[in-house]
Amino acid sequence: MSEKRVTVKAEGVIKEYRMGGTVLQALKGVDVSIEKGEYISIMGPSGSGKSTLFNMIGALDEPTSGVVYIDDVNLLELSPAEIAWIRCWKIGYIFQSFNLLPVMSALENVTLPMIFAGVPVSERRDKAMELLTKVGLGERADHKPTELSGGQQQRVAIARALANGPAIILADEPTGNLDLKTGRDIINLLKEMNEEEDVTIISATHDLKMLDVSDRVVYIRDGMVEQIKNRAELEIEIGSVEGEESGHL
Ligand SMILES: Nc1ncnc2c1ncn2[C@@H]1O[C@H](COP(=O)(O)OP(=O)(O)O)[C@@H](O)[C@H]1O
Ligand SMILES: [Mg+2]
Repeated sequence: MSEKRVTVKAEGVIKEYRMGGTVLQALKGVDVSIEKGEYISIMGPSGSGKSTLFNMIGALDEPTSGVVYIDDVNLLELSPAEIAWIRCWKIGYIFQSFNLLPVMSALENVTLPMIFAGVPVSERRDKAMELLTKVGLGERADHKPTELSGGQQQRVAIARALANGPAIILADEPTGNLDLKTGRDIINLLKEMNEEEDVTIISATHDLKMLDVSDRVVYIRDGMVEQIKNRAELEIEIGSVEGEESGHL
């Protein structure tokens, strides 16, 4: 991949939450530019604004000021229907708490985004089965979320995020509810999807295991980008945390 193309760009993003008479500035002017095919981790302590940034980049919420572009399109200029299209086709979402529908089987959960996209019934079952097989859960397609472990549920969520062939996967603390080994498996699976499907991965996390699969890490603190480290700088950091295996800051 010699040609670098920016797929997500945030420019001067400020997000304020108003609660009663007070205003909390969760993002204080964030600039970040993410290239197609990158694996980006957004790291920062709890409350630093990771999920808020995730919501802005993922077209789930609007900044108070500033602009987010996806493939050079200014999200503020889109109609609600166009935003819905982006959420359906362009981006796959993964959350810390998996967010699977408990009454549905793994297969049905994975078909859900395809129902919204209007994919024909027979096609979506085949596609869902193919995706579940890809994440190692072909045998568990009929199981409900309560019959699956946390790691298996997150695999279902990854298959669901891939359902409509997104260009971008946004993951908000995808390993936050998982033990060390399971978290490592999920990170490896995300990396595999990043490489095989050429999907851009943007993951909010405070899991240090994410460091060694990331192309770049955006460190945020107090609603601001503190620094951005590239691969070469990360190698040094990985060396310093290796062996600790604490996993979390
Ligand atoms: N919907 C909301 N209403 C009010 N305050 C919020 C809301 N969401 C987040 N915040 C506040 O914004 C700050 C950043 O939160 P968040 O983006 O969730 O951080 P992180 O994901 O890094 O833990 C925190 O102080 C949090 O309390
Ligand atoms: Mg968060």
